[in-house]
Amino acid sequence: MSYKIAEIANAAEVLKKRLAKLENRADVLKAIELRALYEEIKTLPPEKRAAFGKEVNLLKQELQELAESSKQKEVSKDPIDVTAPFDVNVPTDKRPQLLASDKGSKHPIMKEIEILSDIAQRMGMEVVESRHLDDDWHMFTSLNFPKDHPARDDYDTFMTMEGFIAPAHTSTMQNRIISARKKQLEAGEPISVLVPDRVFRNEDLDARHEHTFHQHEGVYVGKDVHVGQLLATLKTFLQEYFGKELEIKTQPFYFPFTEPSFEFAVSCPFCDKAGCKVCGEGWMEILGCGLIHPNVLRMAGVDPTLYTGFAWGGGVERLVMVKYNIDDVRYFMSGKLDFLRQFV
Ligand code: DAH
Repeated sequence: MSYKIAEIANAAEVLKKRLAKLENRADVLKAIELRALYEEIKTLPPEKRAAFGKEVNLLKQELQELAESSKQKEVSKDPIDVTAPFDVNVPTDKRPQLLASDKGSKHPIMKEIEILSDIAQRMGMEVVESRHLDDDWHMFTSLNFPKDHPARDDYDTFMTMEGFIAPAHTSTMQNRIISARKKQLEAGEPISVLVPDRVFRNEDLDARHEHTFHQHEGVYVGKDVHVGQLLATLKTFLQEYFGKELEIKTQPFYFPFTEPSFEFAVSCPFCDKAGCKVCGEGWMEILGCGLIHPNVLRMAGVDPTLYTGFAWGGGVERLVMVKYNIDDVRYFMSGKLDFLRQFV
């Protein structure tokens, strides 16, 4: 662009040079020189104003385009791989030695979650992931935990400064699952979902407790749903997982989100109830379950006088520990290769 008016041509040269050095190139549009040129328009005799004004506008436009185009250039720089395990600018010979990718394998928990998901899908269930950061509504309130109710204390949750919660159970998904599928329910098709995902609790760690572990949550809502269906579904699901016939046993329990609520146990897959080192007395408690509380259905927008449902929730690690006779839950998160290699 060549400017006929010398004053503007000079300013153009100065400003273009400056633009090249600016970190934020658009700042050139705030330059005092440009502002002065605009101020000057008003002071000129009327016959000079139009031509002068036109060139100042052209200059502004040119600077704007230059600032924009250099912005695009910046974006087209090589992207940074934020998942790279080291700074990619480090010279090749200084980079850490990594295991070849063909030496890696799926984590045993992920493998077992895939097996559980596969069984659920063969039983007609959808598989849905949960979230790793959630809120009070999904963690407690929508699950019928009254405000300040002591039942909240059973879940020692991690919380961010802003009040978000690292979910302590996969039940956080119940409200979302049910409310999102209300139409499906009204069309006569029951809701049937499995949620296998990671959960977090501020636990004292020992062989049976980890701060980070996994749960599988079943949610079923339809017409005339009853406890018999819940028990039959769980029996089938777990027999498929352990690959053998199991006996089942329940005892009454309390969860705010189910009524009635049960603790659910299966006969030990190792000793068939004879009693052994794995189970102690022949039975293993492996999850909690019950009929979904009417308030939970109501809060998800479903009329509990028309529909009922069941739900269950239990630890994935617990199932895997029973299946492979693993005696300490902390192995899973330890990153110990000799433990992990057993599952390759
Ligand atoms: N969320 C419960 C827990 O982590 C487990 C549970 C019990 C889930 C009963 C359910 C249920 O869906 O019906 O302690």
